[in-house]
Amino acid sequence: MLEDGFGRRFAYLRLSVTDVCNFRCEYCLPNGYQGKPTGFMSVDEIRRLVAGFAELGTTKVRLTGGEPMVRKDFMEIVRVVRATPGIERLAMTTNGYKLCETADELKAAGVDAINISIDSLESERFEEITGDRRFAKVFESIDTCLEAGFGAVKLNTVLLKGLNDHELPGFFEYVRSRPIALRFIELMQTGDNQAYFEKRHVSGDVVRRKLDDEGWKPVDRGPVDGPAVEYGHPDHAGRIGLIAPYAPGFCDTCNRLRVTARGGLRLCLFGRGSQNLRPFLQRDEDREQLKACLLTALLGKKVSHFLHQGDFGDTPHLAYTGG
Ligand code: 5AD
Ligand code: SF4
Repeated sequence: MLEDGFGRRFAYLRLSVTDVCNFRCEYCLPNGYQGKPTGFMSVDEIRRLVAGFAELGTTKVRLTGGEPMVRKDFMEIVRVVRATPGIERLAMTTNGYKLCETADELKAAGVDAINISIDSLESERFEEITGDRRFAKVFESIDTCLEAGFGAVKLNTVLLKGLNDHELPGFFEYVRSRPIALRFIELMQTGDNQAYFEKRHVSGDVVRRKLDDEGWKPVDRGPVDGPAVEYGHPDHAGRIGLIAPYAPGFCDTCNRLRVTARGGLRLCLFGRGSQNLRPFLQRDEDREQLKACLLTALLGKKVSHFLHQGDFGDTPHLAYTGG
């Protein structure tokens, strides 16, 4: 079992399959993707990686990016991960640009849960934040996913001062009739976005106050659920969630590990450095070595991030590690 020195167990793997993205979210890749789009793990390497994790107790995998769907072999990756013994839940996070056409195929290939990033319900605002004009398509894809019958459809909305914080009532209204969870994410500081963070960060307290005032109640969190605290309300089919990494105790329930698209194990979103797993992914026979490497690396996991001391690790932007 993957366990760290603080008794936390890691049954949830967040696996980035590419750091390329076709959007230009202001807080992430304001100038678009600037890296070199090469050297990502092959489907075979991904298969071996996930098998190693699964043998150490991983039951849930989330595919992320960048934008994971820009990979031409994305469906193949989905099938390979889904076919791994021990993997019970397969989720993915996407900016939604291609969901309208692919939702049914994704469902058939074995994706259980989809998170769609949507920072505004207003077309012009969406374009301002993401640099992309496909608001209508992304918005429509939410209902397409509901119709396709995924076990869960969730929305991620980064709270941004002066850009979308006036839309809170609209977001709350949106989940009144739809059985989806809309989760507000507090803007996180990364290497590339420091001035932006100063200008746009909104504390999650704004959402918490509104939830309290309106009688929303927290719902229980499952063992492989992410860090969102989700709230329900009798008048709403959906839920409102809050991901507030700056709140005390955020790291206590950490249950996930990350692997970058180039095969680096990251112990914390805001950590430093990564353990190169590539040498153990070239042959099926190296499975035991891979597992030994994972178990050893985990002993180096720290109790918490150090965001409060202004240390956000060496993450340039979240497209690098998939958030
Ligand atoms: N702070 C908070 N959320 C971010 N995301 C990307 N960068 C940041 C950041 N700096 C979000 C995306 C997506 C999810 C994977 O993470 O909007 O919804
Ligand atoms: Fe792309 Fe996601 Fe970064 Fe936006 S936040 S630029 S959709 S990787």
